Amino acid sequence: MSIQTEEELRQLRIVGMIVRKALNAMTGAVEPGITTAELDAICARVLAEHGATSAPRKVYNFPGTCCISVNDEAIHGVPGSRTLIEGDLMKLDVTAEKGGYYADAAVTVRVGAVSETASALADCAKSAFQAAMRAAKAGSRVFEIGRAVQREVRRHGFSVLPEYGGHGIGRTIHELPHVANYPDLTQRMRLSAGLVLAVEPIITTGSGRSYVDRDGWTVRTSDHSLAAHYEHTVVITKGAPYLITA
Ligand code: CO
Repeated sequence: MSIQTEEELRQLRIVGMIVRKALNAMTGAVEPGITTAELDAICARVLAEHGATSAPRKVYNFPGTCCISVNDEAIHGVPGSRTLIEGDLMKLDVTAEKGGYYADAAVTVRVGAVSETASALADCAKSAFQAAMRAAKAGSRVFEIGRAVQREVRRHGFSVLPEYGGHGIGRTIHELPHVANYPDLTQRMRLSAGLVLAVEPIITTGSGRSYVDRDGWTVRTSDHSLAAHYEHTVVITKGAPYLITA
């Protein structure tokens, strides 16, 4: 969506704050021994407390409240009986809906002490997002976001998963435009002030090839290398984007 009124911005900020609260509550509970289903239950409780619903469940009938992906699982992981162990690299991705407005954010969380590579990959997902923020301003073209993401990711010797990226958002979970994490020169649309985007580097230590698991949801890296993810819902302005989910 493109925000036209103060009221629309207010509604988006409300749902953005709920997404942040859910992510913070889950992040605080991550420790060896907890299951991904238990983390998902925390997300469900926060959403319910605020009168929000799970967008992936509502729109796609996803079998969980949020997506929880571990190690070589990059995105769309289904919460379940898996127990976290020290060294795991978790991706928590929450998209909530309230009053017909949607916000989406994700973080990569370390379970206890993780490898140096895992830690560098998690940091890189965030720095790639920050690079994207420097490129995402009114008047720029959509592909400039992906160019900034891929440049930062390659600088660290990592790869993006080219089949997945960010998206417009606001009145449903996935809107146009698609926001690739590489310079897709077909994405020439100019960003305009008020446009709401989910910007989300999805990266790996491996080749970037991926496949969908037999569960029909979970996206895994083909070489089973580690993946990381970092995402906010942002509003484009003439200057730095405004982060709805911060
Ligand atoms: Co998203």
